[in-house]
Amino acid sequence: MNSSSTKALNIQKAEKSRIDQVDFDNLTFGNIFTDHMFECDYKNGEWHNPTIRPYGNLTISPAAKVFHYGQAVFEGMKAFKDDQGKVWLFRPEENFKRINKSSVRLAIPQFPREIFFEALTTLVKMDKEWVRPGQGNSLYLRPFVFATQAGVGASPSTEYKFMILMSPAQAYYTGDVRVEIAEHFSRSANGGVGAAKAAGNYAAQFYPTNLAKEKGFQQVIWTDASSHEYLEEAGTMNVFFRVNDTLLTAPISDRILDGVTRKSVIALAKRDNIDVEERRVRVSEIVEAAKNGTLKEIFGAGTAAVISPVSAFSFQDTVYELEKPSDSYATKFKQELMDIQYNRGEDPFNWRFPIE
Ligand SMILES: Cc1ncc(COP(=O)(O)O)c(C=O)c1O
Repeated sequence: MNSSSTKALNIQKAEKSRIDQVDFDNLTFGNIFTDHMFECDYKNGEWHNPTIRPYGNLTISPAAKVFHYGQAVFEGMKAFKDDQGKVWLFRPEENFKRINKSSVRLAIPQFPREIFFEALTTLVKMDKEWVRPGQGNSLYLRPFVFATQAGVGASPSTEYKFMILMSPAQAYYTGDVRVEIAEHFSRSANGGVGAAKAAGNYAAQFYPTNLAKEKGFQQVIWTDASSHEYLEEAGTMNVFFRVNDTLLTAPISDRILDGVTRKSVIALAKRDNIDVEERRVRVSEIVEAAKNGTLKEIFGAGTAAVISPVSAFSFQDTVYELEKPSDSYATKFKQELMDIQYNRGEDPFNWRFPIE
């Protein structure tokens, strides 16, 4: 086989769609997958055989390095259908760049741009019936890459699989979110993998998040690992604090994921002449602002939920309740972002990416 024939996208169509079996009005996030998926294998220093085939199980060695050393990174992005039936992605270039940045940190080879975009757009086109119109409805896209070489030697794998799955989604969170500020556990550390979307980052959060859930909180807001004095981000969201009319958010660092929603909110805020400060935010200043009434809002920003208003936070066993202001920034940014995502308004920053 010459090298060009192993690079062309190979397509195997499902014989019959499963779409009729899906209750689109009662979806649980991330449990149902569309008819097709993408896979591409890395071996002998090259990516081979990019293939779209019917969604199904894989056969993989139990000695594959991903199971032993966690060499795996992923992305999360969405496709939206507008009222005319046209499908759009939101800033996919950012997700492409980020998965390769995450891969560098986990010693995983870079994935080629051309194959990524061809696979993504072909896959979405093939399963476009699974993208439902209407606010809150979307198709969640999950690119990921993991180590497949069989062998338990603790060294980087020489073989990998890159895949894309797609899952129909409704609005992610129901209602407002109550959060606990981390005082003991940490999500990431200086020089660590916090800025990568590494699978293990999420595994490490499950236990402390379960403890917070037992106390009635849905999420933890992580603080810096060394002093626990500065607010960083939540489990799958960056976090914004509105004190008076100024938005505060932690700066991007090697401990924090460079969120696409975060940078979009900052761009919209600047356009709307809202003061934004990307700087270290002390827990003590937010507690003080909550006490003196200048803390107007806290909200999370991330692909899954777009914007999640925080209705209460807990610190040192005191719970601070937040009342939603009538001029909520969370509501405003959510609407502005969704108007762009669903092609209902102008796209001043060129964030929409058309599928065909
Ligand atoms: C740890 C973490 N922070 C922030 C985000 C938000 O990033 P984005 O807006 O690109 O979805 C995510 C997830 O997507 C995340 O997993």
